[in-house]
Amino acid sequence: MRLPADLLDAIQQETEKVDRRKLFTATAQLTERYKAADFSSPPIATEAHRAAYLAVRLPATYAAVRRVFAEINARAPQAEIASLLDLGAGPGTALFAAAEQFPQLQQATLVESDAGWIAVGKRLVEQSESTVVQQAQWLKLDLRSGLSCEKHDLVVISYTLGELPQAAADAVLNKAWKCAVKFLLIIEPGTRRGFAAVNAARSALIANAAHIFAPCPHAGVCPMATAGDWCHFSQRVERTSQHRQLKGGELGYEDEKFSYVIAAKFAVPQSGSRIVRHPGKHSGHVQLALCTANGQIESRTITRSSKEAYKRARKAEWGDMWIE
Ligand SMILES: C[S@@+](CC[C@H](N)C(=O)[O-])C[C@H]1O[C@@H](n2cnc3c(N)ncnc32)[C@H](O)[C@@H]1O
Repeated sequence: MRLPADLLDAIQQETEKVDRRKLFTATAQLTERYKAADFSSPPIATEAHRAAYLAVRLPATYAAVRRVFAEINARAPQAEIASLLDLGAGPGTALFAAAEQFPQLQQATLVESDAGWIAVGKRLVEQSESTVVQQAQWLKLDLRSGLSCEKHDLVVISYTLGELPQAAADAVLNKAWKCAVKFLLIIEPGTRRGFAAVNAARSALIANAAHIFAPCPHAGVCPMATAGDWCHFSQRVERTSQHRQLKGGELGYEDEKFSYVIAAKFAVPQSGSRIVRHPGKHSGHVQLALCTANGQIESRTITRSSKEAYKRARKAEWGDMWIE
């Protein structure tokens, strides 16, 4: 996946404002803070940190969010997402992804506590070719201090819930669910910690009568959590040359691991199982690990002899749905 050209240009202009040495230092600090999952103070505190985030994290969070939005398009095309509320919006990552993914999007509200991020986000959206992106409403609000929000078709909490203390996360989740007309998406890094935040949110949403739309094909206890494992997926994103330099990497891409849950206000017929690992593609057979509708992890071997299924299995990817 690649970021839209207008967003890439706007990011380049932002990062060029920061001294190169400062940008390298800030990138290293950010990477360390996220690795340590240390949220005792805001990990992004300076212009250099914000620029580093734009260069090395936004492409990955954009790609993960957009991949998950595509799931809504694919399985509920009739849902027509016309409005977006993004809580903990940062530079507006989810807005850029939503504008690409939902042609019916007409209005967006972005809530963010950091004035620095709002200033950066407003500069980024100015350069967008999309009217809905340009006209987004930015609200400077601390999610912990009681959010009052209007109803929106889709509410997103992207890479933010897990950074909040548990009691605050519970309150924000509750409020976010009330603000959602159609869907609520929670997305976090695909780590044990990120998954734990997503899984806790999933349980709370089920207790609140939510319908689990994705990734789970069931509303039972997560079998991965029961097994001490963590449910996560992977999205490949192109790296710019600046990204490669800042990360000291050679590859022209990176694979962003993410955990997520989409809760819906209405029941969407579930069909099939979720592929929860990279399919093992061997000569003559494909091995699939599936999370099934009965809430179990099961493996399937699809051999060349099952012609149609084998053809599909060769193309199947980690995170796709699998219809038996
Ligand atoms: C890791 S960034 C994610 C940004 C964006 N959602 C993305 O996916 O790229 C977390 C964002 O949440 C914001 N945030 C953290 N705590 C917040 C709070 N209590 N109220 C509002 N925003 C908050 C931070 O300022 C930051 O912009």
